[in-house]
Amino acid sequence: MADTRLNKKTSFCFFFFLIAAAPLPIPALHGRMAVDTGPYSSGPLPPDAIIGAGYVPGLPALGIPALRETDASLGVAFIMGLRHDGATALPSGLAEAASFSPELAYRAGAMIGRQARAKGFNVLLAGGVDLARDPRNGRNFEYAGEDPWLAGRIAGASIKGIQDQHIVSTIKHFALNDLETGRSVHNAVIGEAAARESDLLAFEIAIEQGRPGSVMCAYNRVNGPYACENPWLLNDVLKHDWHYPGWVMSDWGAVHAASAIMAGLDQESGQQFDSQIWFGAPLAASAASDPAVAARVRDAAARIAGTLRRIGVTNDPPHPTPIDVAADAAVSQASAEAGIVLLRNVGNLLPLSPRAVRRIAVIGGHADFGVLSGGGSSQVVGPEGAELIEKLGGNAPSDAAFRVKIFNGSAPLAAIRAMAPQAQVVFTDARYPAAAAHAARGADVAIVFATQWNGEGEDLPDLSLPDGQDAVIAAVARANPRTVVVLETGNPVLMPWQSAVPAILEAWYSGTRGGQAIANILFGVTSPSGRLPITFPAALAQLPRPVLPGEGQAPGTAFTVTYTEGSDVGYRWYAARHQAPLYPFGYGLTYTSFRLSSPRVLPGPTPRVTLAVTNTGPRAGTDTPQLYLTAAPHRTQQRLLGWARVTLAPGQTRTVTIDTDPRLLADWDQPGHRWSIAGGLYHFALGESATNLSLTAAATLPPSALPP
Ligand code: BGC
Repeated sequence: MADTRLNKKTSFCFFFFLIAAAPLPIPALHGRMAVDTGPYSSGPLPPDAIIGAGYVPGLPALGIPALRETDASLGVAFIMGLRHDGATALPSGLAEAASFSPELAYRAGAMIGRQARAKGFNVLLAGGVDLARDPRNGRNFEYAGEDPWLAGRIAGASIKGIQDQHIVSTIKHFALNDLETGRSVHNAVIGEAAARESDLLAFEIAIEQGRPGSVMCAYNRVNGPYACENPWLLNDVLKHDWHYPGWVMSDWGAVHAASAIMAGLDQESGQQFDSQIWFGAPLAASAASDPAVAARVRDAAARIAGTLRRIGVTNDPPHPTPIDVAADAAVSQASAEAGIVLLRNVGNLLPLSPRAVRRIAVIGGHADFGVLSGGGSSQVVGPEGAELIEKLGGNAPSDAAFRVKIFNGSAPLAAIRAMAPQAQVVFTDARYPAAAAHAARGADVAIVFATQWNGEGEDLPDLSLPDGQDAVIAAVARANPRTVVVLETGNPVLMPWQSAVPAILEAWYSGTRGGQAIANILFGVTSPSGRLPITFPAALAQLPRPVLPGEGQAPGTAFTVTYTEGSDVGYRWYAARHQAPLYPFGYGLTYTSFRLSSPRVLPGPTPRVTLAVTNTGPRAGTDTPQLYLTAAPHRTQQRLLGWARVTLAPGQTRTVTIDTDPRLLADWDQPGHRWSIAGGLYHFALGESATNLSLTAAATLPPSALPP
């Protein structure tokens, strides 16, 4: 063991020495988008490039291979339609987070890592972990929700899954890229302690757990400077405090000056989107006249080379291999099923019994074709190739190339038919409320599919379902008391019809096998186990910013978003304001019932809490009891400390232990530049969601401090 460590260390030293002795490695520090047609092309691709989001030439003499990068938040992306080889689409990031299962996130990451490798990529632009501060953020569907511990653990596990395939994953977008409106110009303003306890903590945890080779800095400004030129974010927090050894790459078009290198940026990506190739000639000139810049150039290249070696890219480069489409689709389906959240089930309308339903009305959402996906650079289209595409057009400020609404070809209608072969299953679109109501009348059950499209580069104007779908649902519910609404949304939505509808499922964007996943939940082949990773507000007025920042301003107009809620993101905000949301964070029903009992706080440097979970209902099911901090000695503030995910047979009881991370109990002590746990009495609560907390416990902790 000792020998191996020594050998690794020796080879790294040799390697850094190599870079120090070579000419300045400028070419490894900037790259282009790897397309050779369309508006983003910058000419023919070099022979060792493949179509993808990025290409950076290699410097083989320095141990740096060419970087072939693809977007991959939710599967290997289709690059605005320029890749035609198809890939397995995962459910949305919110769906993955709703599983509360780092194990499933790991499997999903490993799956995209394998597919990317098989296609020849060695860097994945995956691992989005910006917190859902606003439920209108058009990219929340790529991220993992509103809580730093949940988001960090899910993103970290997915990154680890990717990198275990000897491929680099990024983590992105560092940091506070929590709105798409004016993303290249807005200034996110937040206090340091609040940032460390929320958005930065999500990154910190994901980086610790997943050890991503690269961090992608964001478009927006943070407390003044652009994120990619922000010495506090990149040099102080990331590289100094967190000892981050990898490299920082820019988002595509996020660099504004060669001096960004001194703020901690290591590599300029998508250079054709910047006003000039800053890390080309301007950086070379600056390095020639300033030894400090030259040293940073070498450091940046050494970070890239060292990372590629650590992750195994250098020694085990990707090569084309066949993809097991069916096995990979099964991974996606497992994530989708675990992420679907049963929001309401009055009178146990669900699960449906195939024998008891003779006529089923399926309405809307293109359920006869497939399931909705989100738009933008993360867009994946399946290996089947059959996708339903609607061009959205319009004059939204986002990139026109992203404004396409794509349905993955996994039809809920076909899956429902297969589930209930004896039943007459009729599909009607949801264009007219009267026609939908007519179809629903007299059916044993009416299932309405409602969609809300989200895409990169734009936020939602509000949280209403678009295109008159609320009216359709209300009309169907009036016509048939046995109505189920299946939501395919990228974000929370308001539900003015909620009390009229007995059953509601949040299916998010459900990926390659979404139709089957939804049908399995509807018919109880799988019991629902998803929990909301994001609060569903009852009204826009409940949000910290009821009016979307930047709304109505001409594209390109700079503005400031002040995150006055500080680290009280999502459920923490609702708790602090004593507001009742429509559906709380952590919430989700299933087809059985559970009892939590016997909470005990075990002594230790940070508390560990045990509790017993009993399945008190008639079916097997999975419960996700959650542990929250509710009060510390000097403050009342709710924070998720941990959870357990436990599958139990009817009548079965299991005792589970939830460990706590000290940073979740601590405050960031700004003057002391450390985490600080005040001595005194801490109150904890256990329950089934952020607002359904049936058990309490308390413990006295000694004062302590932790370095950043
Ligand atoms: C997105 C990134 C993405 C990059 C490359 C940017 O527009 O913000 O998430 O990785 O494009 O496609």
